[in-house]
Amino acid sequence: MSETSNAVSLRDRVRRSATDGSTCDPSEVVCASGLIVEGSVVRVGVLGAGRIGRMHAELLARRVPGAALAMVYDPIGESSESVARSLGVPMARSAEELLSSPSVDAVAICTSTDTHVELLVAAAGSGKAIFCEKPISLDLADVDRALDAAERAGALLQVGFNRRFDPAHRSVRDAVASGAIGAVHLVRISSRDPAPPPITYIARSGGIFLDMTIHDFDMARFVAGSEVVEVFARGAVRIDPAIGEAGDLDTAVVTLRHADGCLTLIDNSRQAAYGYDQRVEAFGSAGMASSHNPLTHTGTLSTAAGTMTPGLPHFYLERYVPSYVSQWVSFVEYVRTGGPSPVSGADARAPLVIGLAAWQSARNGQPVAIGPASMDRTGGV
Ligand SMILES: NC(=O)c1ccc[n+]([C@@H]2O[C@H](COP(=O)([O-])OP(=O)(O)OC[C@H]3O[C@@H](n4cnc5c(N)ncnc54)[C@H](O)[C@@H]3O)[C@@H](O)[C@H]2O)c1
Repeated sequence: MSETSNAVSLRDRVRRSATDGSTCDPSEVVCASGLIVEGSVVRVGVLGAGRIGRMHAELLARRVPGAALAMVYDPIGESSESVARSLGVPMARSAEELLSSPSVDAVAICTSTDTHVELLVAAAGSGKAIFCEKPISLDLADVDRALDAAERAGALLQVGFNRRFDPAHRSVRDAVASGAIGAVHLVRISSRDPAPPPITYIARSGGIFLDMTIHDFDMARFVAGSEVVEVFARGAVRIDPAIGEAGDLDTAVVTLRHADGCLTLIDNSRQAAYGYDQRVEAFGSAGMASSHNPLTHTGTLSTAAGTMTPGLPHFYLERYVPSYVSQWVSFVEYVRTGGPSPVSGADARAPLVIGLAAWQSARNGQPVAIGPASMDRTGGV
Protein backbone atom coordinates (compact mmCIF):
# COMPACT_ATOMS: atom_id res chain seq x y z
CA MET A 1 0.00 0.00 0.00
CA SER A 2 1.24 3.49 -0.68
CA GLU A 3 2.44 5.92 1.93
CA THR A 4 -0.77 7.77 2.55
CA SER A 5 -1.80 10.51 4.88
CA ASN A 6 -4.25 8.11 6.44
CA ALA A 7 -1.77 5.25 6.79
CA VAL A 8 1.06 7.56 7.87
CA SER A 9 -1.01 9.14 10.58
CA LEU A 10 -2.09 5.73 11.82
CA ARG A 11 1.49 4.50 11.69
CA ASP A 12 2.69 7.55 13.57
CA ARG A 13 0.09 6.94 16.26
CA VAL A 14 1.16 3.29 16.57
CA ARG A 15 4.78 4.31 16.92
CA ARG A 16 3.86 7.01 19.42
CA SER A 17 1.76 4.60 21.44
CA ALA A 18 4.75 2.25 21.65
CA THR A 19 7.04 4.98 23.00
CA ASP A 20 4.85 7.30 25.08
CA GLY A 21 2.08 4.90 26.11
CA SER A 22 -0.67 6.91 24.34
CA THR A 23 -3.69 4.89 23.26
CA CYS A 24 -4.32 3.56 19.80
CA ASP A 25 -7.48 1.80 18.66
CA PRO A 26 -6.45 -1.79 17.78
CA SER A 27 -8.74 -1.66 14.74
CA GLU A 28 -6.47 1.06 13.38
CA VAL A 29 -3.14 -0.69 13.87
CA VAL A 30 -0.86 -0.68 10.84
CA CYS A 31 2.51 -2.35 10.49
CA ALA A 32 5.69 -0.60 9.42
CA SER A 33 4.96 -1.16 5.72
CA GLY A 34 1.64 0.62 6.09
CA LEU A 35 -0.36 -2.60 5.88
CA ILE A 36 -2.96 -3.50 8.45
CA VAL A 37 -1.59 -6.21 10.74
CA GLU A 38 -2.95 -9.62 11.69
CA GLY A 39 -5.84 -9.41 14.09
CA SER A 40 -6.97 -5.89 13.21
CA VAL A 41 -10.19 -5.11 11.40
CA VAL A 42 -10.20 -3.88 7.80
CA ARG A 43 -12.82 -1.13 7.58
CA VAL A 44 -14.38 -1.02 4.11
CA GLY A 45 -16.31 1.89 2.60
CA VAL A 46 -18.75 0.80 -0.11
CA LEU A 47 -19.32 3.01 -3.16
CA GLY A 48 -22.56 2.13 -4.93
CA ALA A 49 -25.57 0.70 -3.11
CA GLY A 50 -27.29 -1.01 -6.05
CA ARG A 51 -27.80 -4.77 -6.44
CA ILE A 52 -24.24 -5.89 -5.84
CA GLY A 53 -23.12 -3.03 -3.55
CA ARG A 54 -25.99 -3.71 -1.17
CA MET A 55 -25.03 -7.37 -0.98
CA HIS A 56 -21.34 -6.59 -0.42
CA ALA A 57 -22.27 -4.09 2.30
CA GLU A 58 -24.36 -6.72 4.11
CA LEU A 59 -21.63 -9.35 3.87
CA LEU A 60 -19.00 -6.92 5.15
CA ALA A 61 -21.23 -5.85 8.02
CA ARG A 62 -22.21 -9.36 9.10
CA ARG A 63 -20.34 -12.26 7.54
CA VAL A 64 -16.69 -11.52 6.84
CA PRO A 65 -14.32 -12.22 9.73
CA GLY A 66 -11.76 -9.42 10.07
CA ALA A 67 -13.78 -6.92 8.04
CA ALA A 68 -16.24 -4.21 9.00
CA LEU A 69 -18.50 -2.01 6.93
CA ALA A 70 -17.36 1.55 7.65
CA MET A 71 -19.45 3.78 5.38
CA VAL A 72 -21.65 3.78 2.29
CA TYR A 73 -22.18 6.22 -0.56
CA ASP A 74 -24.58 6.21 -3.50
CA PRO A 75 -25.78 9.35 -5.32
CA ILE A 76 -29.28 7.91 -5.05
CA GLY A 77 -29.91 9.11 -1.52
CA GLU A 78 -32.60 6.51 -0.80
CA SER A 79 -30.25 3.62 -1.67
CA SER A 80 -27.45 5.02 0.49
CA GLU A 81 -29.80 5.77 3.32
CA SER A 82 -31.55 2.41 3.43
CA VAL A 83 -28.26 0.47 3.41
CA ALA A 84 -26.62 2.79 5.96
CA ARG A 85 -29.65 2.72 8.25
CA SER A 86 -30.23 -1.03 8.09
CA LEU A 87 -26.56 -1.82 8.72
CA GLY A 88 -25.92 0.95 11.27
CA VAL A 89 -23.10 2.80 9.49
CA PRO A 90 -22.69 6.43 8.41
CA MET A 91 -23.67 7.56 4.94
CA ALA A 92 -21.13 9.71 3.09
CA ARG A 93 -22.39 12.75 1.18
CA SER A 94 -19.98 12.17 -1.69
CA ALA A 95 -17.45 9.65 -2.98
CA GLU A 96 -14.73 12.14 -2.02
CA GLU A 97 -15.93 12.22 1.58
CA LEU A 98 -15.78 8.42 1.78
CA LEU A 99 -12.36 8.30 0.11
CA SER A 100 -10.88 10.84 2.52
CA SER A 101 -12.40 9.40 5.68
CA PRO A 102 -9.82 8.26 8.25
CA SER A 103 -12.26 5.58 9.38
CA VAL A 104 -12.06 3.84 5.98
CA ASP A 105 -9.08 1.54 5.25
CA ALA A 106 -10.33 0.11 1.97
CA VAL A 107 -12.88 1.05 -0.65
CA ALA A 108 -15.22 -1.28 -2.54
CA ILE A 109 -16.18 0.13 -5.95
CA CYS A 110 -19.58 -1.42 -6.63
CA THR A 111 -20.97 1.31 -8.88
CA SER A 112 -22.16 1.12 -12.49
CA THR A 113 -19.34 -0.02 -14.77
CA ASP A 114 -19.00 3.33 -16.55
CA THR A 115 -17.94 5.00 -13.27
CA HIS A 116 -15.27 2.48 -12.18
CA VAL A 117 -12.25 4.08 -13.85
CA GLU A 118 -12.63 7.58 -12.37
CA LEU A 119 -13.41 6.15 -8.93
CA LEU A 120 -10.49 3.74 -9.12
CA VAL A 121 -8.11 6.58 -10.06
CA ALA A 122 -9.46 8.67 -7.17
CA ALA A 123 -9.23 5.72 -4.76
CA ALA A 124 -5.61 5.12 -5.80
CA GLY A 125 -4.89 8.77 -4.97
CA SER A 126 -6.50 8.37 -1.55
CA GLY A 127 -4.14 5.62 -0.49
CA LYS A 128 -6.92 3.18 0.41
CA ALA A 129 -6.76 -0.49 -0.54
CA ILE A 130 -9.16 -1.08 -3.45
CA PHE A 131 -11.69 -3.74 -4.33
CA CYS A 132 -13.28 -3.03 -7.73
CA GLU A 133 -16.19 -4.92 -9.23
CA LYS A 134 -15.66 -6.43 -12.67
CA PRO A 135 -15.25 -5.20 -15.33
CA ILE A 136 -13.00 -2.22 -14.58
CA SER A 137 -14.20 -0.78 -17.90
CA LEU A 138 -15.39 -1.93 -21.31
CA ASP A 139 -12.58 0.12 -22.87
CA LEU A 140 -9.02 -1.23 -22.76
CA ALA A 141 -7.37 2.21 -22.80
CA ASP A 142 -9.47 3.20 -19.79
CA VAL A 143 -8.57 -0.02 -17.97
CA ASP A 144 -4.91 0.75 -18.61
CA ARG A 145 -5.34 4.29 -17.28
CA ALA A 146 -6.88 2.95 -14.07
CA LEU A 147 -4.23 0.24 -13.66
CA ASP A 148 -1.45 2.78 -14.28
CA ALA A 149 -2.87 5.03 -11.55
CA ALA A 150 -3.13 2.11 -9.10
CA GLU A 151 0.39 0.97 -9.91
CA ARG A 152 1.87 4.48 -9.59
CA ALA A 153 0.21 4.87 -6.19
CA GLY A 154 1.34 1.39 -5.09
CA ALA A 155 -2.31 0.66 -4.27
CA LEU A 156 -3.50 -2.79 -3.27
CA LEU A 157 -6.08 -3.79 -5.90
CA GLN A 158 -8.34 -6.83 -6.15
CA VAL A 159 -10.95 -7.20 -8.91
CA GLY A 160 -14.32 -8.90 -8.39
CA PHE A 161 -14.04 -12.10 -10.37
CA ASN A 162 -15.84 -13.87 -7.54
CA ARG A 163 -16.34 -17.23 -9.27
CA ARG A 164 -12.67 -18.04 -8.62
CA PHE A 165 -13.65 -18.26 -4.95
CA ASP A 166 -16.56 -20.67 -5.45
CA PRO A 167 -15.47 -23.81 -3.56
CA ALA A 168 -16.64 -26.22 -6.31
CA HIS A 169 -15.09 -24.29 -9.23
CA ARG A 170 -11.91 -23.83 -7.19
CA SER A 171 -11.70 -27.59 -6.60
CA VAL A 172 -11.54 -28.05 -10.39
CA ARG A 173 -8.72 -25.53 -10.62
CA ASP A 174 -6.92 -27.25 -7.72
CA ALA A 175 -7.24 -30.65 -9.43
CA VAL A 176 -5.51 -29.17 -12.49
CA ALA A 177 -2.87 -27.29 -10.51
CA SER A 178 -1.98 -30.30 -8.33
CA GLY A 179 -1.61 -32.59 -11.34
CA ALA A 180 -4.40 -34.89 -10.05
CA ILE A 181 -5.96 -35.13 -13.54
CA GLY A 182 -2.61 -35.21 -15.35
CA ALA A 183 -2.01 -32.92 -18.31
CA VAL A 184 -5.19 -30.91 -18.92
CA HIS A 185 -6.57 -31.38 -22.44
CA LEU A 186 -10.02 -29.75 -22.27
CA VAL A 187 -11.93 -27.31 -20.07
CA ARG A 188 -15.71 -27.06 -20.48
CA ILE A 189 -17.73 -24.20 -19.01
CA SER A 190 -21.52 -23.91 -19.22
CA SER A 191 -22.90 -20.61 -18.03
CA ARG A 192 -26.59 -19.91 -18.54
CA ASP A 193 -28.68 -17.20 -16.95
CA PRO A 194 -32.31 -17.72 -15.90
CA ALA A 195 -33.61 -14.74 -17.90
CA PRO A 196 -32.21 -11.93 -20.04
CA PRO A 197 -31.72 -8.50 -18.47
CA PRO A 198 -33.83 -5.53 -19.67
CA ILE A 199 -33.03 -4.27 -23.17
CA THR A 200 -31.95 -0.92 -21.72
CA TYR A 201 -29.28 -2.79 -19.72
CA ILE A 202 -28.23 -4.89 -22.74
CA ALA A 203 -27.71 -1.79 -24.84
CA ARG A 204 -25.10 -0.45 -22.36
CA SER A 205 -23.60 -3.78 -21.26
CA GLY A 206 -20.92 -4.30 -23.89
CA GLY A 207 -22.90 -7.32 -25.13
CA ILE A 208 -22.87 -10.95 -24.11
CA PHE A 209 -19.09 -11.48 -24.38
CA LEU A 210 -18.17 -8.49 -22.17
CA ASP A 211 -21.12 -8.70 -19.80
CA MET A 212 -21.64 -12.42 -19.30
CA THR A 213 -18.92 -14.57 -20.91
CA ILE A 214 -16.28 -12.33 -19.30
CA HIS A 215 -16.67 -14.41 -16.11
CA ASP A 216 -16.12 -17.58 -18.16
CA PHE A 217 -13.01 -16.15 -19.85
CA ASP A 218 -11.66 -15.49 -16.37
CA MET A 219 -12.61 -19.03 -15.28
CA ALA A 220 -10.89 -20.53 -18.34
CA ARG A 221 -7.58 -18.80 -17.49
CA PHE A 222 -7.98 -19.66 -13.81
CA VAL A 223 -8.74 -23.37 -14.31
CA ALA A 224 -6.37 -24.10 -17.21
CA GLY A 225 -3.55 -22.07 -15.65
CA SER A 226 -2.40 -21.13 -19.14
CA GLU A 227 -2.92 -17.91 -21.10
CA VAL A 228 -5.43 -17.74 -23.94
CA VAL A 229 -3.82 -17.35 -27.38
CA GLU A 230 -6.79 -17.76 -29.76
CA VAL A 231 -10.54 -17.17 -29.65
CA PHE A 232 -13.26 -18.45 -31.98
CA ALA A 233 -16.82 -17.33 -31.20
CA ARG A 234 -20.21 -18.06 -32.71
CA GLY A 235 -23.39 -16.38 -31.53
CA ALA A 236 -27.10 -16.42 -32.27
CA VAL A 237 -30.32 -14.71 -31.24
CA ARG A 238 -32.63 -17.55 -30.14
CA ILE A 239 -34.55 -15.97 -27.26
CA ASP A 240 -35.72 -12.47 -28.09
CA PRO A 241 -35.34 -10.59 -31.42
CA ALA A 242 -35.15 -7.33 -29.43
CA ILE A 243 -31.77 -8.51 -28.11
CA GLY A 244 -30.56 -8.79 -31.70
CA GLU A 245 -32.03 -5.38 -32.54
CA ALA A 246 -30.01 -3.94 -29.63
CA GLY A 247 -26.88 -5.32 -31.34
CA ASP A 248 -26.37 -8.25 -29.01
CA LEU A 249 -26.59 -12.05 -29.02
CA ASP A 250 -28.37 -14.23 -26.48
CA THR A 251 -26.81 -17.61 -27.24
CA ALA A 252 -23.10 -18.25 -27.81
CA VAL A 253 -20.37 -20.85 -28.11
CA VAL A 254 -16.73 -19.87 -27.72
CA THR A 255 -13.64 -22.03 -28.14
CA LEU A 256 -10.35 -20.88 -26.68
CA ARG A 257 -6.87 -22.20 -27.37
CA HIS A 258 -4.40 -21.82 -24.51
CA ALA A 259 -0.63 -21.32 -24.77
CA ASP A 260 0.02 -24.88 -23.47
CA GLY A 261 -2.27 -26.41 -26.12
CA CYS A 262 -5.30 -26.97 -23.84
CA LEU A 263 -8.69 -26.15 -25.38
CA THR A 264 -11.64 -24.53 -23.57
CA LEU A 265 -15.24 -24.75 -24.73
CA ILE A 266 -17.74 -22.23 -23.31
CA ASP A 267 -21.49 -22.22 -23.94
CA ASN A 268 -23.79 -19.41 -22.87
CA SER A 269 -27.49 -18.72 -22.90
CA ARG A 270 -29.34 -15.73 -21.53
CA GLN A 271 -32.33 -17.91 -20.68
CA ALA A 272 -32.27 -21.36 -19.12
CA ALA A 273 -35.85 -22.39 -18.32
CA TYR A 274 -34.67 -24.44 -15.32
CA GLY A 275 -32.67 -21.72 -13.53
CA TYR A 276 -29.09 -20.49 -13.16
CA ASP A 277 -26.87 -23.18 -14.69
CA GLN A 278 -23.17 -22.96 -13.80
CA ARG A 279 -20.88 -25.91 -14.51
CA VAL A 280 -17.13 -26.26 -14.95
CA GLU A 281 -15.19 -29.35 -15.97
CA ALA A 282 -11.52 -30.07 -16.62
CA PHE A 283 -10.54 -33.22 -18.50
CA GLY A 284 -6.96 -34.43 -18.51
CA SER A 285 -4.66 -37.38 -19.24
CA ALA A 286 -5.27 -38.90 -15.79
CA GLY A 287 -8.91 -38.02 -15.09
CA MET A 288 -11.60 -35.41 -14.89
CA ALA A 289 -12.69 -32.85 -12.28
CA SER A 290 -16.12 -31.22 -12.34
CA SER A 291 -18.13 -28.60 -10.53
CA HIS A 292 -21.88 -29.29 -10.63
CA ASN A 293 -24.89 -27.11 -9.90
CA PRO A 294 -25.97 -26.96 -6.28
CA LEU A 295 -29.71 -27.42 -5.72
CA THR A 296 -31.86 -25.04 -3.70
CA HIS A 297 -32.19 -27.73 -1.00
CA THR A 298 -31.53 -31.44 -0.55
CA GLY A 299 -35.10 -32.78 -0.31
CA THR A 300 -36.27 -35.27 -2.94
CA LEU A 301 -39.63 -36.83 -3.80
CA SER A 302 -39.76 -40.41 -5.07
CA THR A 303 -42.92 -41.95 -6.51
CA ALA A 304 -43.76 -44.61 -9.08
CA ALA A 305 -43.21 -41.89 -11.70
CA GLY A 306 -39.61 -41.35 -10.67
CA THR A 307 -37.60 -39.14 -8.33
CA MET A 308 -37.93 -35.36 -8.25
CA THR A 309 -35.14 -33.12 -7.04
CA PRO A 310 -35.47 -29.38 -6.27
CA GLY A 311 -34.56 -26.73 -8.81
CA LEU A 312 -31.40 -24.67 -9.27
CA PRO A 313 -30.71 -21.43 -7.43
CA HIS A 314 -32.47 -18.55 -9.19
CA PHE A 315 -29.44 -16.39 -10.03
CA TYR A 316 -26.01 -15.22 -8.88
CA LEU A 317 -27.15 -13.62 -5.63
CA GLU A 318 -28.52 -17.02 -4.54
CA ARG A 319 -25.86 -19.24 -6.18
CA TYR A 320 -22.62 -17.46 -5.42
CA VAL A 321 -22.90 -16.11 -1.87
CA PRO A 322 -20.16 -18.46 -0.54
CA SER A 323 -17.84 -17.17 -3.26
CA TYR A 324 -18.57 -13.54 -2.39
CA VAL A 325 -17.78 -14.23 1.28
CA SER A 326 -14.53 -16.05 0.41
CA GLN A 327 -13.61 -13.25 -1.96
CA TRP A 328 -13.81 -10.81 0.98
CA VAL A 329 -11.88 -13.14 3.28
CA SER A 330 -9.16 -13.25 0.67
CA PHE A 331 -9.22 -9.44 0.31
CA VAL A 332 -8.85 -9.01 4.10
CA GLU A 333 -5.86 -11.36 4.10
CA TYR A 334 -4.33 -9.48 1.16
CA VAL A 335 -4.76 -6.09 2.85
CA ARG A 336 -3.27 -7.41 6.08
CA THR A 337 -0.29 -9.18 4.60
CA GLY A 338 0.35 -7.68 1.16
CA GLY A 339 1.75 -10.10 -1.42
CA PRO A 340 0.32 -10.74 -4.85
CA SER A 341 -3.27 -9.67 -5.45
CA PRO A 342 -5.71 -12.62 -5.38
CA VAL A 343 -7.25 -11.19 -8.60
CA SER A 344 -4.89 -8.62 -10.05
CA GLY A 345 -5.22 -5.81 -12.57
CA ALA A 346 -3.72 -8.13 -15.21
CA ASP A 347 -6.41 -10.71 -14.33
CA ALA A 348 -9.02 -8.00 -14.86
CA ARG A 349 -7.57 -6.93 -18.19
CA ALA A 350 -7.12 -10.36 -19.84
CA PRO A 351 -10.83 -11.37 -19.96
CA LEU A 352 -11.63 -8.01 -21.56
CA VAL A 353 -9.00 -8.62 -24.26
CA ILE A 354 -10.49 -12.09 -24.84
CA GLY A 355 -14.04 -10.66 -24.87
CA LEU A 356 -13.12 -8.02 -27.47
CA ALA A 357 -11.49 -10.75 -29.57
CA ALA A 358 -14.66 -12.86 -29.21
CA TRP A 359 -16.76 -10.00 -30.61
CA GLN A 360 -14.33 -9.63 -33.51
CA SER A 361 -14.48 -13.37 -34.18
CA ALA A 362 -18.29 -13.56 -33.95
CA ARG A 363 -18.57 -10.67 -36.41
CA ASN A 364 -16.08 -11.89 -39.02
CA GLY A 365 -16.53 -15.65 -38.57
CA GLN A 366 -12.80 -16.25 -38.13
CA PRO A 367 -10.62 -17.25 -35.17
CA VAL A 368 -8.76 -14.29 -33.66
CA ALA A 369 -5.19 -14.72 -32.40
CA ILE A 370 -4.20 -13.03 -29.15
CA GLY A 371 -0.44 -12.43 -29.07
CA PRO A 372 1.44 -11.89 -25.80
CA ALA A 373 1.62 -8.15 -26.61
CA SER A 374 -2.20 -7.94 -26.49
CA MET A 375 -2.13 -9.01 -22.85
CA ASP A 376 0.48 -6.36 -21.96
CA ARG A 377 -0.62 -2.97 -20.70
CA THR A 378 -1.26 -0.72 -23.76
CA GLY A 379 -1.63 -3.80 -25.99
CA GLY A 380 -5.00 -4.39 -27.68
CA VAL A 381 -6.94 -6.71 -29.95
N1 LIG B 1 -19.13 -10.02 -9.63
C1 LIG B 1 -20.42 -10.22 -9.85
O1 LIG B 1 -20.94 -11.32 -9.70
C2 LIG B 1 -21.28 -9.05 -10.27
C3 LIG B 1 -22.67 -9.20 -10.27
C4 LIG B 1 -23.46 -8.09 -10.60
C5 LIG B 1 -22.87 -6.89 -10.93
N2 LIG B 1 -21.50 -6.81 -10.96
C6 LIG B 1 -20.86 -5.53 -11.32
O2 LIG B 1 -21.12 -4.61 -10.26
C7 LIG B 1 -21.31 -3.30 -10.80
C8 LIG B 1 -22.66 -2.77 -10.32
O3 LIG B 1 -23.68 -3.61 -10.78
P1 LIG B 1 -25.15 -3.57 -10.14
O4 LIG B 1 -25.87 -4.69 -10.75
O5 LIG B 1 -25.07 -3.47 -8.66
O6 LIG B 1 -25.68 -2.19 -10.74
P2 LIG B 1 -26.85 -1.26 -10.15
O7 LIG B 1 -27.24 -0.39 -11.28
O8 LIG B 1 -27.86 -2.07 -9.44
O9 LIG B 1 -26.12 -0.37 -9.03
C9 LIG B 1 -25.11 0.56 -9.33
C10 LIG B 1 -25.21 1.66 -8.28
O10 LIG B 1 -24.08 2.52 -8.42
C11 LIG B 1 -24.53 3.82 -8.09
N3 LIG B 1 -23.55 4.82 -8.55
C12 LIG B 1 -23.40 5.33 -9.79
N4 LIG B 1 -22.39 6.23 -9.78
C13 LIG B 1 -21.90 6.28 -8.51
C14 LIG B 1 -20.86 7.00 -7.88
N5 LIG B 1 -20.11 7.88 -8.55
N6 LIG B 1 -20.63 6.80 -6.56
C15 LIG B 1 -21.37 5.92 -5.87
N7 LIG B 1 -22.37 5.19 -6.41
C16 LIG B 1 -22.64 5.37 -7.73
C17 LIG B 1 -25.89 3.92 -8.75
O11 LIG B 1 -26.66 4.98 -8.22
C18 LIG B 1 -26.47 2.54 -8.44
O12 LIG B 1 -27.20 2.54 -7.22
C19 LIG B 1 -21.21 -3.44 -12.32
O13 LIG B 1 -19.92 -3.10 -12.71
C20 LIG B 1 -21.44 -4.92 -12.57
O14 LIG B 1 -20.77 -5.41 -13.72
C21 LIG B 1 -20.71 -7.84 -10.62
